[in-house]
Amino acid sequence: MPTYKKIFENNKEWVASRLATDEEFFEKLAADQTPDYLYIGCSDSRVPATEIMGLEAGEVFVHRNIANMVVNNDMNVMSVILYAVKILHVKHIVVCGHYNCGGVKAAMVPQDMGLLNHWLRNIRDVYRLHEKELDAINDEHARYDRLVELNVYEQCRNVVKLATFQQHYLEHGYPKVHGWAFDLKTGLLRDLNIDFEGMLKDIQKIYNLTNNKG
Ligand code: CO
Repeated sequence: MPTYKKIFENNKEWVASRLATDEEFFEKLAADQTPDYLYIGCSDSRVPATEIMGLEAGEVFVHRNIANMVVNNDMNVMSVILYAVKILHVKHIVVCGHYNCGGVKAAMVPQDMGLLNHWLRNIRDVYRLHEKELDAINDEHARYDRLVELNVYEQCRNVVKLATFQQHYLEHGYPKVHGWAFDLKTGLLRDLNIDFEGMLKDIQKIYNLTNNKG
């Protein structure tokens, strides 16, 4: 465990290592950001976004919260998505869940968690939507893993439901939406191969927000 002081030593080493490979690294970094990816992941300390993707500073716009949720009335994630799509013009939006997610696990247990109830409620709703499938899984760990995946699926659907996404995608053909699951035991990312275009078609009857009247 690094001490507080060690963090600043680490930082100097990081600066030196970046300058060793590219003398202009920080000049470029300071000039602008043009990330192709918006990553929406869990706050869990074991899932460091840029590191697991093998990307560098400047290459991924990151939003993290408990259990990688895309909640419609959360102004934080809504602002991040709007900025990423309309200003940064990201080509991909990734929702990345992870197995052994404490937030998902907490949502599987019906008990009062105080203020957290409000956040967990969104995950409990995913459980309710897929209750039949989940309750048919006898093994508790397998059921937990499946809820992690279904939660990613539903959060991708929540991205697709947004006017911000729909209007930009129909006009430009991007961003594409991806759902991933990170496995802490192997370090491997799994692409859940989410068919976001199919999702978009499915939801249009109720959620088509492309006809801007403003
Ligand atoms: Co988590």
